[in-house]
Amino acid sequence: MYECGRIDLRNPLILASGILGSTGSSLNRIANLGAGAVVTKSIGATQREGHPGPVLIKTDTGFLNAVGLPNPSYKYFVEELNDFNRDCPLIISIFGANRSELTKIVENLEEYADAFELNLSCPHVKGYGMDIGKDPVFVENITREIKKITKKPLWVKLTPNVDDITKIGIAAENGGADAVVAINTVRGMRIDTESGYPLLGNVYGGLSGGAIKPIGLMAVYSLYKRLKIPIIGVGGIEGYKDVIEYFMAGARAVEIGSGIYNNTNIFNDIKSDLDTYLNKKGIKLEELVGLVHKRGDTKECNDQKSKEREQKC
Ligand SMILES: Cc1cc2nc3c(=O)[nH]c(=O)nc-3n(C[C@H](O)[C@H](O)[C@H](O)COP(=O)(O)O)c2cc1C
Repeated sequence: MYECGRIDLRNPLILASGILGSTGSSLNRIANLGAGAVVTKSIGATQREGHPGPVLIKTDTGFLNAVGLPNPSYKYFVEELNDFNRDCPLIISIFGANRSELTKIVENLEEYADAFELNLSCPHVKGYGMDIGKDPVFVENITREIKKITKKPLWVKLTPNVDDITKIGIAAENGGADAVVAINTVRGMRIDTESGYPLLGNVYGGLSGGAIKPIGLMAVYSLYKRLKIPIIGVGGIEGYKDVIEYFMAGARAVEIGSGIYNNTNIFNDIKSDLDTYLNKKGIKLEELVGLVHKRGDTKECNDQKSKEREQKC
């Protein structure tokens, strides 16, 4: 067991929200493929069809999506949750426009959740996600309100589409969040060069996959400097070295989404590669958390190297 954000994870590699998290059977499948915990697709108070298509485009390094938070509402999602085998921690991702919507969802799903992940970061739905999650005052207040109605751990998922993600992270921490999750997708668009139309039905969407890893790392690095609560890193993880980078930046656990597209066994594979790396180094994963902050900057490192070279000469 591996503790993070008041949950005992089976291991620190978690399924990210929105990828194979809409049904009990797909959640079971990922749990059986070695995930340390699974996060559901974000669930709202009322049914939503989502945006008109196309909603998903494959990019060179991942996806651009504007699915638009389609979901059956908490009332019908319960059927899927009843199909979930309870041998893997379940984190229920929730979204809502206000306190009353979120209260309904939390009260009704409380018994199923090992934790809630509050999605304040979806980049392509008006009135939800980052539309409200970029305001630190709102983030602090809504986090505090949700904490009052649940005993379960509450993680807050942050948007990278702001000037300073640490302001939002601090707001979540001040509101009582048990952890923050960084990052959701990065806003972007594509255009069809033949017709001149945007490729996505919603015009713009959120970019995921390898291209956003440096953005995710920077977010985790900055949050680690300012926050006391754990940080869960997400964005562009495809192999064990990506996980190590996130840990070194300050993450205590990670989530994996787009990487599943190329490798459904990604959780087992990364776990085994990580074990090999840690055994070789003779260290525990926890020792990597925030390591880069304990090192000097690159200039110091280069100065040290040239000093050593001079001494050798
Ligand atoms: C098709 C798709 C749907 C997503 N749906 C959600 C969602 O419902 N809620 C959420 O918080 N994040 C959602 N995300 C964002 C992912 O959870 C994750 O933050 C993002 O994709 C970056 O991780 P990755 O590069 O490993 O995919 C979605 C991502 C994709 C590609």
